[in-house]
Formats: sequence, structure tokens, C-alpha cells
Amino acid sequence: MNSFKPKVLRHKSLPSTNNEAARWATLGAEEGLAVVADEQTAGRGRLQRTWISPLGAGLYCSVLLRPKFSAERWPLITFVAALSVSDALWEACGLTTDIKWPNDLLAGEKKICGILAEVIESDEGRVVILGMGVNVTRAAFPEELRGVATSVEEATGRVFETSTILHSLLQALGRWYPLLGELDGDEKIVAEWTSRSSYADGKLVNVVNGDDTLRGITRGLEPDGALRLETEKGIATVRAGDVSKVRAV
Ligand code: BTN
Repeated sequence: MNSFKPKVLRHKSLPSTNNEAARWATLGAEEGLAVVADEQTAGRGRLQRTWISPLGAGLYCSVLLRPKFSAERWPLITFVAALSVSDALWEACGLTTDIKWPNDLLAGEKKICGILAEVIESDEGRVVILGMGVNVTRAAFPEELRGVATSVEEATGRVFETSTILHSLLQALGRWYPLLGELDGDEKIVAEWTSRSSYADGKLVNVVNGDDTLRGITRGLEPDGALRLETEKGIATVRAGDVSKVRAV
């Protein structure tokens, strides 16, 4: 049974939709609450980075989840988010994207969407705040990021309403998220993620985690989404870090 019922709360401006969704979670809000803002003044990214979020330039959305499935599957929530954004960009904009481990969406090898999942405690139990930021227009990020970032506008030559992408995104989450509660759901998610990612297998990458850098060839995912990397010392299992493709010199 599909029990994921999205309810959207729209704001003109917020510091961070993740913070606002977390505030609702502590007030007891139900799973499926989606907080959306036209701009964020203190948008946050992974690894303590800032997510620049100018007015009307991106989709800034955080969904409140109260997972009932085993904690072993929680790391797959961001994979579900990546698949959902990937579906939404295809369905709403006709755009095919690549996925870079664990959950950056790329178009033409540049980042078009980032995902930040945060776990918080509430009186009703643990909550996952699933934040997704999609660059919709070319104004979504500053000039100095043009070498590594792109937008739906640049990738398709068209500007789309954020509400159209949001609608498809929430529909897609409603298809993918319930799989995490099903018997073989984890396998289906990992298999689909693998089929959509050029990074899943056979790519020479660097993985930076704090002061450590690991170089190797990607060799697929573990059942919980960890990345297998063939290094000169053997197979390493990567659970955190920033992956970048090693470019030919
Ligand atoms: C990343 O670093 O790639 C993750 C970026 C996540 C940005 C989104 S925008 C909506 C939500 N609110 C935030 O403050 N961050 C996430």
C-alpha cells in the first residue's frame, strides 16, 4: 500500500527549508510534509557547505519522513531521493540526468541537483528531513561555479515552473519511498540507481573524505548503498566522501 501522502507548505523566503521542516517535525507534523521556498537565505549543503538559493532560480524543497522500516535501509533514503528527482526532471522537463555517488544529479557532467538528508529526534521518534535543491534557471548559482554546476534552463534551453517539477518530484517520491518498506525494495532501488549512474561501475574516481583521498575504480554498490572501490590495496567500501571523476591529462 502506498501510504506516502504529500502536503505542501509554500513560503516566499526561508533561511532553510530543512530547518523549517525540522521545526514542524518537533511540533509533531506528519510524514509527507513538504516545505518549499522561492528563496533560501541560509540554504545548507552537504559537508557544511552553503547552498546558494536565489529567489525564483531553483526548487528548494524539504520533505519530512518518519521511516518505519529497519534502520539498515535508512542510508537508501537519499538514493530514493536521487531516483525521484531523476524521474521528475525526465517527466517534467524531458531531461535525462546522471547520478554521482551518493546522490548528486548531473547533466552534461555538471551538478544540477544536490540532496541533504538530516536525522533529528522528535517526541514521536526519529525523523528524516530530506532536502532537495534543483538549479532551475541559470541564476541559481554564481558565475564562479559555471564550470561545475548547471541548471535545467542551460540543459534544456527552456525555463520550467518550479511547481511543475515539484509536482512530479512528489509523485515520484510516492512511488520510490514505499519500496523501502517492501521485502526486495532495497535491491530494486540499488539496481535502478546503478542503471542510471555512470559512476556505479568502472569509473576511475577520487574519493575525498576530510584529509583522506582514496583513488580507485568503482565496482558497484553494497546492498546499503555503500560504494565499492577497487584500489591498489584491494576493494574498499566507501560510506562517506566526495567523489570526483579522474580526468585524463
Ligand atoms: C548538496 O550539498 O549537494 C546538498 C544541497 C541540498 C540543498 C537543499 S535546498 C532545500 C534544502 N534546504 C537546505 O538548506 N538544503 C537543502
